Order: sequence, then structure tokens, then C-alpha cells
Amino acid sequence: MKTYPVVEITFSPTGGTKKVADQISCYLGNITNTMNLIRHDVSFSDVTVPSDSLAVIAAPVFEGVIPDIVIERMKEIQGNHANCVVIAVYGNRAYDDGLIQLKDTAELCGFNVIASVAAVAEHSIMRQFGSGRPDEEDNKELKKFAEEILEKLSSEKELSTDYFVPGSHEYKRLGNLSVVPKANASCTGCGKCAEACPTGAINKNNIRTGDSSKCISCMGCIAACPKGIRKLNPVFLAAASLKMKDLLSGRKPNEIFL
Ligand SMILES: Cc1cc2nc3c(=O)[nH]c(=O)nc-3n(C[C@H](O)[C@H](O)[C@H](O)COP(=O)(O)O)c2cc1C
Repeated sequence: MKTYPVVEITFSPTGGTKKVADQISCYLGNITNTMNLIRHDVSFSDVTVPSDSLAVIAAPVFEGVIPDIVIERMKEIQGNHANCVVIAVYGNRAYDDGLIQLKDTAELCGFNVIASVAAVAEHSIMRQFGSGRPDEEDNKELKKFAEEILEKLSSEKELSTDYFVPGSHEYKRLGNLSVVPKANASCTGCGKCAEACPTGAINKNNIRTGDSSKCISCMGCIAACPKGIRKLNPVFLAAASLKMKDLLSGRKPNEIFL
């Protein structure tokens, strides 16, 4: 089957979204360009995706929607009518309005969204849920999704972008979680957390505490800390895990719409 030059655009604070995107992208073709929407110090406004490439845009679901900064940064990109696959990655609860929001946003950028995927990765706050995902079973399924996308691309018919995707166009945010990870006195001040922060909420001169007015609770700083020092309040974590246990348990599905 013919494969495509792939432009991969991701926002993945703790790496789960990127794992899913890579798994799908590698079967669709050669990744010719990657764009990291985590970067708050670069502008995406001069980015135009070549019309003959296939864009893969992947972002996580936070509280039922795509984080605002992802939407803002995505909107700067010119889709240039390139075909596009959107992937909303969720942490084994639900993706709610996240997938439809990602598809709508990519269309606003001028992409031709020919497939929409929802996929599970480990929950980035309560890592015992969806633990180890995407795993081997997921990877087989994601490969099958990529084959379905390639089949659609190779069909003689006009590529439909008007297919069913679950969710509401009103994009309902389910809560307003504001938990700011902190480091203790063992922090060496290496600055990896500040580099990883997508909003510039960690000031290199006061590295142990984050600015709660800028922090989006993405957990990127915890993932980036080489010493495992940056953490959430353990009491909050235990209480949240207990409260969310039923909603986050069981194996939630990967799904494709095209
Ligand atoms: C603030 C926040 C809110 C989240 N909300 C949801 C949610 O509504 N539904 C869900 O299934 N997972 C939710 N998750 C889990 C993430 O969607 C999931 O872990 C995703 O893989 C994170 O992407 P990353 O690994 O690329 O950082 C949330 C995670 C965070 C940090």
C-alpha cells in the first residue's frame, strides 16, 4: 500500500500522546517533520503544512476537552488542505468532547480531516489507571487503524470528512482542576522541569514552586524531573484516586471514525 510523508504535530507533556501518535504515524509513512506544541517560546504562525503531506495531530484530553493552549497553538498552523488524522488521547476514563473539538479545530486550520482516532494512554495524574498503555494489544489495534486510513486514502472515491464523531460541538469542560506539582529541598535546580513546562509556569530562579496562575496541571514537570523529586501532594493524589476509582477502572477502548 502507498504510504505518505507524515507531518506529526503533538502536545504530550508526559509522553503518552506521543507514543500513540508515533505508533500510528510510522505505519502511515515516513515522518518528514515533527512539531512540538509544548514549546511556549516558539511561534507556529509561519508554519504551513505541505498540501501533499499527511498530518497527524495528537493531543491529550484534560477534563473532557483539549487544553486551551493546544487549541491556541494549533490555530496558528496553516493546514493548506493537507489530509489529516486527529488523535485524542485519554487516560482510561472518557474522551467526551475532546475528539470532536480536535477535529473541528484542525478543520478551522484548513486541514482535510479524513480520520479521527481516540486512544488510551496511562493516566498522567493517577498512573495506576491505564497503566502501561498503549501496550502490545493497543499497538496492534493502532496498526489496524493506520491500515484503515491508508485504505481510505487509496480509494478512488472522494475522501469524506463528514463522518460521525461522538461528542458535542459545545465542548463542555468537566472541571477546573488546579493542582501544582512541587519539589522539596532535595531539588538540585537543574531546570529540566522549567524547560518541559508548556506555559512557562516554572521560574528558573524559584524552581521548586510553580506559578499556580499559569500551571495547567499537565504533569510535564513531574515527568521531566530526572530525580523524581517533583511531585503532587500525596494526600490529594490518594483522595483523587479513591474518588475516581470506579470511573477509571476496566479497559477502555481505542476507536476510529472515518
Ligand atoms: C489535568 C488532566 C486532566 C485529565 N482529564 C482526563 C479526562 O477527562 N479523561 C481521561 O480519560 N483522561 C484524562 N486525563 C488523562 C490524560 O488524558 C492522559 O493521561 C494522557 O495520556 C496524557 O497525555 P500525555 O501522556 O501525552 O501527557 C487527564 C490528565 C490531566 C493531567
